Amino acid sequence: MHYQSSYKIQGFSADEKSEIERLKAQVELFWDKELVFYKMFGLKDGMKIVECGCGPGLVGQKLLAAFPNSYVTAFEIDPILVETAQNNARLWKLERYEVSESSILNTGLFNDTYDFAITRLVLEHLSDPVGAVKEVYRILKPGGKAVFIDNDFEFHMRTYPDISELKDLYNAYCVARQDEGGKPKIGRELPGLLKLAGFSNIDLQIVNAHSEIVGDQIFLKSEGSGIPAKLVKDGYLAGEIYSKIAHKWSKLLNTEGHSIFRQMFLCVGKKVLTDEPIFEEKHAEHCFLSEQNIDSQSPQLEEKEYEKNKLSEQKEDYDEPITSAEKKVARIWSEILGREWIGKNENFFEAGGGSIHAPQIVEHLEKEFQTKLSIIDLFDHPTIALLAKHVEPQKVKKEDLSSSQRQEIRFQKILQRREKIRKIKG
Ligand SMILES: C[S@@+](CC[C@H](N)C(=O)[O-])C[C@H]1O[C@@H](n2cnc3c(N)ncnc32)[C@H](O)[C@@H]1O
Repeated sequence: MHYQSSYKIQGFSADEKSEIERLKAQVELFWDKELVFYKMFGLKDGMKIVECGCGPGLVGQKLLAAFPNSYVTAFEIDPILVETAQNNARLWKLERYEVSESSILNTGLFNDTYDFAITRLVLEHLSDPVGAVKEVYRILKPGGKAVFIDNDFEFHMRTYPDISELKDLYNAYCVARQDEGGKPKIGRELPGLLKLAGFSNIDLQIVNAHSEIVGDQIFLKSEGSGIPAKLVKDGYLAGEIYSKIAHKWSKLLNTEGHSIFRQMFLCVGKKVLTDEPIFEEKHAEHCFLSEQNIDSQSPQLEEKEYEKNKLSEQKEDYDEPITSAEKKVARIWSEILGREWIGKNENFFEAGGGSIHAPQIVEHLEKEFQTKLSIIDLFDHPTIALLAKHVEPQKVKKEDLSSSQRQEIRFQKILQRREKIRKIKG
């Protein structure tokens, strides 16, 4: 298959084997944090996931380890990498995984099929990223989410002590990729691209890796020396600058308190529900607006109406929180998500929760249940019922508390009661 891309496995690093090792290290470098974002964006077990431009298939392996009941459809344009991914899938005994050769610009996959799409470090190599994002939009189910992850080489890697020549290296890298039709500073453009392709609920996050947390070695592997060496060979980077970087880099590794810091940009969008003919057929009777108004309102507004109608329907077969812990968790979700009826088995993200709500919910739960929680606890227990079960056993028994802790709890309760009275009095 002929294609235009600023990425070619042959010639990107020293050889194919070392390039695959570099890609592997690049997955390892960010995976733990990336996974938190995927969960936050609504990825959960049992979903139909599509991975676009999967390379050697390393992300698919990680996805199925985290979501074993999901099904991953992967595709990749480079036949060598398709074969590598197929071999890896056999080696790793991945059953719910398939990989085939196709382009993100024309996948050949059916319309409206996937719950979640991941396109990692692919758009930056394309001359038509909008075409690619539109194709991903097409194959997503209405209401499905797509995540696009890319670099922006102006904000690539920073170090302490500073290596000023890294700027020259990344400038040279950008020129080389642009000469091949790529867009190495695409990170900042992602939200705009998703908007052009029709996505709604767009958000941009930064995933980072720091040597103090992940160690130095993984950075050495994920950056590799093959790329700068090739830039020198191809005349994009002066040999003496490369030597200076190599010299300062080894000095940095011997400096106490040194830091290596790198980031990638994650942009998420949701396929609007207006493409769904069901919207008009099934829900038109619930709409407050006339047909004329439906035509003239924005897709976002239309989607909000759809969600609203969906929620009022949900109230009828509402799965009521029963236990005292479930009721407490439900009250907190209701207050923060601004919704009156939340079924105990409704998923946090489907209930309208997102990155801005999660820390507030965690803070309230910690106070209510006198326990320590993290946002990951919320993503790992994404319903009221699961969260209630998770926090309840952690609740500290009164007799285990010191007298000052008991006093603090009593004080908090008095404050809460006062706050309630203040609210009632208006
Ligand atoms: C930097 S690698 C990233 C691989 C993988 N997504 C990962 O994160 O490990 C970029 C990948 O995009 C693939 N690619 C480039 N152009 C493509 C296209 N038009 N359609 C599908 N894949 C493409 C490349 O062959 C390569 O495997």
